[in-house]
Amino acid sequence: MKKYITVLLALFIFAGCEKIIDEPALATLPPESITQAEVLTQTENTVPEIITELTDETTENSETEAAVEVGGDVENPTEAIDVESISLSFYEVTLQVGQSKMPLVTMFPENASDKSEIWTTSDETVASVDWLGNIKALSEGNCVVTVTSAQNTDVSANVLVTVVAGPQLTYIDGILIANKTYALPSDYAPGVNAEAEAAFYEMQADASDLGLNLYISSGYRSYDYQAGLYQRYVDRSGKAEADRYSARPGHSEHQTGLAFDLNTISDEFKDTNEGKWVAENCHKYGFIIRYPEDKESVTGYMYEPWHIRYLGVDTATAVYESGLCLEEYLGITSEYDE
Ligand code: DAL
Ligand code: ZN
Repeated sequence: MKKYITVLLALFIFAGCEKIIDEPALATLPPESITQAEVLTQTENTVPEIITELTDETTENSETEAAVEVGGDVENPTEAIDVESISLSFYEVTLQVGQSKMPLVTMFPENASDKSEIWTTSDETVASVDWLGNIKALSEGNCVVTVTSAQNTDVSANVLVTVVAGPQLTYIDGILIANKTYALPSDYAPGVNAEAEAAFYEMQADASDLGLNLYISSGYRSYDYQAGLYQRYVDRSGKAEADRYSARPGHSEHQTGLAFDLNTISDEFKDTNEGKWVAENCHKYGFIIRYPEDKESVTGYMYEPWHIRYLGVDTATAVYESGLCLEEYLGITSEYDE
């Protein structure tokens, strides 16, 4: 009997121990992660193995779910795919001081795991380059701009940069010229000319006394602003057509700060009371209609009744009375180089 009681006691203690070890381990696992194999393992009372096997199985499952299938093969996404080569949209460039240009970069293979770029220049004084690859010409000379793969620094590509002097300001008979022949430096940024602006306000006040409403719809424009504007027109109309009504960057009178577009930028302006009055009177305030009717072959631009250019009262009056456009008056051309 004593022996019988001892056996019963031993069985009771064993069953209690099993419960204490087993429950917490299984309770920490999500129900859906328990497989049939694991259920079988549980019934074998090999508790330490259960924990180990479940851990392994859970890891395997998460890897399988996260695996990426590429071209029929299952690849491990954590494995780096090296950049092998870099192609650029150009490898040589000549820029004028102040100009900027950015090559387009393509890294191969296309599924490379990290296509980050590192940009450097061999001479900061000749041309700088920012983190996007925008190369800016700073002074005359040559340098090499390099893009390197951040992921594989053995792979790089070079741009040979030549920087030449930009155009200088051109004055003819004391008049600053900006047309298709004579460009302005890209870094010439004088802002609106104070004398021209004051002359406009005087003209505006006199026009207002006559019941006319004059306003500036476009005044000073920077080189970069003009570059964007011209590009939009090229995208819209094509280069040949855009060149008839929009100046290329560096060639616009708006960059001098001496030109204003008045009111509605439309042919209809010439038939308004304001347009007629400006055509007959703006010279008294120092302005000319810069691109007159039927002078496109000389000025390079279609008729713009709204675009006035400040020359000062004496010169503007002389040009007005001559009946000539400014190019004819000065005996100069307005033609792009190309
Ligand atoms: N529309 C004139 C020509 C300019 O773009 O400056
Ligand atoms: Zn204009």
